[in-house]
Amino acid sequence: MKTIDPLEISPRAFYKHMTASVAPRPIAFASTVDSQGRVNLSPFSFFNMMGIDPPIIALAPNRRGADQSQKHTALNVNEVPEIVINMVTSSMVNQISLASAEFARGVNEFEKAGFTELPAVRVAPPRVKESPVQLECRVFDIIEKGSMQLILAEVILGHFSDELFDSNGQIDQLKTDWVARLGGDWFSHTRGESLFQVPRPQMGIGFDGLPFSVRNSRILTGNDLGLLASVSALPNLQTVKNFGQLESFKRLVDASESGCQYMPDLVHWEAQKLLHNGQIEEAWLLLLQVC
Ligand SMILES: Cc1cc2nc3c(=O)[nH]c(=O)nc-3n(C[C@H](O)[C@H](O)[C@H](O)COP(=O)(O)O)c2cc1C
Repeated sequence: MKTIDPLEISPRAFYKHMTASVAPRPIAFASTVDSQGRVNLSPFSFFNMMGIDPPIIALAPNRRGADQSQKHTALNVNEVPEIVINMVTSSMVNQISLASAEFARGVNEFEKAGFTELPAVRVAPPRVKESPVQLECRVFDIIEKGSMQLILAEVILGHFSDELFDSNGQIDQLKTDWVARLGGDWFSHTRGESLFQVPRPQMGIGFDGLPFSVRNSRILTGNDLGLLASVSALPNLQTVKNFGQLESFKRLVDASESGCQYMPDLVHWEAQKLLHNGQIEEAWLLLLQVC
């Protein structure tokens, strides 16, 4: 384990460790205008959603390392406190990278990077037509610390492509194709095999409620124990006894005896299979036979 005090290495060196670790980060493709109405469009991955009611987003253009000058996005929101956040899909990624180049102030990156301006409804900066989610925002605070300029903005109107929705009117995560930023030049997709669901327990017995032999299993992993510890109560004694009378369990006992396998290990392997299959209660009933 490397333990690093950010004050003992250069800010850039620590930034590299941070961006590779606090990752992947969503990307805000931010459109702004200056007081003359000139349009700017730049990507920012120091970005996230921060509030629900009202909906709030935060993004942080940092001063340029070379001369500490402010990014055009920060200058613009100081002049016109409005911003449109356009979310980034994999089909846009090379163009948004191009838009991040250091074009002179007043240069419109919609033109440079080949995007189409779509008028916003409630704010002056245009939306990016190619983006399936466009959020019109009003900036309500800009917090400065060191090189950071943290822009806080309230989303006052959201535009979501019809193609993202399922038949229940919810955005179907399997229909989105967001890209995110990691360290250096690394990006990631959020689609296909990288997507998975984790049920959220309302209440769980916790790791401290696990029987000793389960908690210290040499077979069950932290993820397995996380599932087991998320049940609100262990199965009652009678259900456990009934499970022990089932043919399926007796077959396991036979397998252990005829194969000279250590029964608790065999049970933990089988319980793990059940957990991977989403059968948490069955896994518990099995594990409790050897506790
Ligand atoms: C994917 C991506 C994410 C970026 N995230 C940030 C960021 O969070 N903060 C930042 O200061 N610069 C970030 N940059 C660099 C800016 O986009 C770049 O400095 C840009 O020229 C700023 O434009 P502006 O001066 O027109 O506002 C990022 C670049 C890319 C390609």
